[in-house]
Amino acid sequence: MKKVGIIGAMPEEVSELLTLIENPTTETHGERKYTSGTINNTNIVLVFSRWGKVAAASTVTTLIQVFKVDFVLFFGIAGAINSSLNVGDVVLGDKIFQHDLDARPLMKQFEIPLLNMTFIQCETQILEKAYLALKGMDIYKKSASIYADKYNLGKSKILKGNIATGDQFISKNEQSQKIKAELPNILCVEMEGGAVAQVCYENKVPFLIIRTISDKADHNAPTDFQEFLVHVASPLAKTLAPKLLELLK
Ligand code: ADE
Repeated sequence: MKKVGIIGAMPEEVSELLTLIENPTTETHGERKYTSGTINNTNIVLVFSRWGKVAAASTVTTLIQVFKVDFVLFFGIAGAINSSLNVGDVVLGDKIFQHDLDARPLMKQFEIPLLNMTFIQCETQILEKAYLALKGMDIYKKSASIYADKYNLGKSKILKGNIATGDQFISKNEQSQKIKAELPNILCVEMEGGAVAQVCYENKVPFLIIRTISDKADHNAPTDFQEFLVHVASPLAKTLAPKLLELLK
């Protein structure tokens, strides 16, 4: 039977998902708490990765090597870089770049050393399956109506698209302009996906990165994302996780 590693980039998301786990048992490795159990008869291991690429790489390595997961599902929030995206939209990661990886002149910008790639690609079949399943769902049905109105969640979109990861919270115009100019085809920025994707690729473990847009990577980002995280993104992870686990069976 398949075992799915679920990573939350935020403790709030993980605490919501914890309530879904039957027969939970907990182990600590490298200052992370890994909770094993089942959700609707799928074996899962849930963990909060902490923030940034090193934290995420360490966590996903433990999931793969200690817990022997066969699949990694990552939930988190992201800042929109593409102006057609709004707070509440959900991005399923297609190509995952590391926007701060730059070993020029030894390699081209964004090239991952020794992999000869500038991004890691999610398996197309997984991406399509998840996209079709989520597209047909009323994903915000459990959100409190004041937040549904405030963020206009009825209009939220599910998208497949490229994501850029880096060890920076993007809240200044010059940061987002630079990323936009260098990686014109990305939808959003975050701080862990590229590390998860790289470690999964190197270990031949399939993965899916799911990012809900919490801010527009501008000066409002630090205040916007906290409220959104608690009231919208965390309940959303709880709605999406069982559906995605069902698809992976
Ligand atoms: N995660 C959520 N919002 C973000 C931002 N603006 N920059 C980086 N990571 C984020």
